Amino acid sequence: MSCFRIIGGKKLAGRIKSSGAKNSAMPIITACCMIEGSVELHNVPSKHDPILLLNMVKGLGLKVKNTQKNTWVLDASGQIKSDVIGEKTSRIRGNQTLLGALLARNGEVRLESLGGCKIGSRPMDLHLKGFQALGATVEETGNSIYISAKDGLTGSRIFLDFPSVGATENIMLAGCMAQGETIIENCAKEPEIEDLANFLLACGARIAGAGTETICIEGQKKLKPSSHSIMPDRIEVGTYMIAGAITGGNISIGPVNPVNVDSLIFKLQEAGVSVHVEGGNQIRIKNNSRVRAVNIRTLPYPGFPTDLQPQMTSLMSVSNGVSVISETIFENRFSSVPELIKMGANISSEGRSIKVRGVEKLKGASVKSHDLRGGVSLVLAGLIAEGETIVTDIEHIERGYDRLDVKLRSLGADIERID
Ligand code: EPZ
Repeated sequence: MSCFRIIGGKKLAGRIKSSGAKNSAMPIITACCMIEGSVELHNVPSKHDPILLLNMVKGLGLKVKNTQKNTWVLDASGQIKSDVIGEKTSRIRGNQTLLGALLARNGEVRLESLGGCKIGSRPMDLHLKGFQALGATVEETGNSIYISAKDGLTGSRIFLDFPSVGATENIMLAGCMAQGETIIENCAKEPEIEDLANFLLACGARIAGAGTETICIEGQKKLKPSSHSIMPDRIEVGTYMIAGAITGGNISIGPVNPVNVDSLIFKLQEAGVSVHVEGGNQIRIKNNSRVRAVNIRTLPYPGFPTDLQPQMTSLMSVSNGVSVISETIFENRFSSVPELIKMGANISSEGRSIKVRGVEKLKGASVKSHDLRGGVSLVLAGLIAEGETIVTDIEHIERGYDRLDVKLRSLGADIERID
């Protein structure tokens, strides 16, 4: 079991480069299952989950080549399997969009249990209702799902009860090769949805409205190979922005589209942190005082992202007031709270909200990562805590952050990875 060892108190300074977005790379990698011919993907992050997914699609029959550090070439010509089974499937969530891609490509797909962070029940009902609306039949036995559409998929109008990111992506993939028009209403508007749509458009798909609450798709018989550069990871950038704020540092992070981190920029400015956009795609964070307490309510995009809530909880732990943080997206996403309390944080839970009373100082302790964003929030707390903090079970963190210790050390943090 590997861990991070951190000695707190160092102010971060310098410049850090963002990497490709995990949550954009995953659906785009699955979309390649629909495309015969060589697709070239640039800025693919070397994070655990995308790399695991690349190995999974290779196992399905795609040719997968890593031509340069973050460039991969995928080719789904020939026979592609429809069964997504094996121990790997239960380790990540990002394989969920293999359902839509393989259903479109093969007319059937079988998927065993999905994995991902234990941050809630994470049902698939909206995905499956979408496939049924397109004419597919769904059989669930135990933890495996078999979906088939032997006569092909037929476009339809679908209203999502909740703007689910995964369900929007899955239905968009299936709709790309359905007969006729598919309209998805009340869909997710996250930037990763737009990045997926831009990739599919480059491959000849007919999609309008990605990034809005209604997406219209005109199904095509075939998609053609193209190339695409994965968008920067807005959650990784946001995490480093909060790292700069919590250590009272002065750092620049990018490239990123500043609009994609707008809600965090405004929240940090409300907390008294100096945040500026430089050169159009770099974010400068400067902070030399204890932050003010701010309230946070996570919402679907463009609201405050649930994936940055644990990181903000760490920052509010050392604010100069009382912050109420409400998590409206997932029902169990406060896993870092008991660990922060071990470090001296003053946090009480009230249903789907927590009340954080800022303290002057956190003290180093041995703490455990329970999921990806909860884990990285403990690293942020360790950067400011007095003395030594050991963060264990860091495999959770490495699913979504590439060389976190190396990047933080380059900014002056005293952190090392211990195997
Ligand atoms: C994606 O998960 C991301 N994962 C998550 O990032 C992110 O937190 C989430 O979107 C919200 O932005 C990937 O892209 C791989 P949802 P997803 O479907 O698609 C409920 C990270 O840290 N729901 O938008 O699983 C669901 O239970 C990860 O990088 C249903 O009820 O999220 C949840 O409460 C964590 N029925 C809410 O919607 C469904 O059929 C949001 O889920 C689907 C979802």
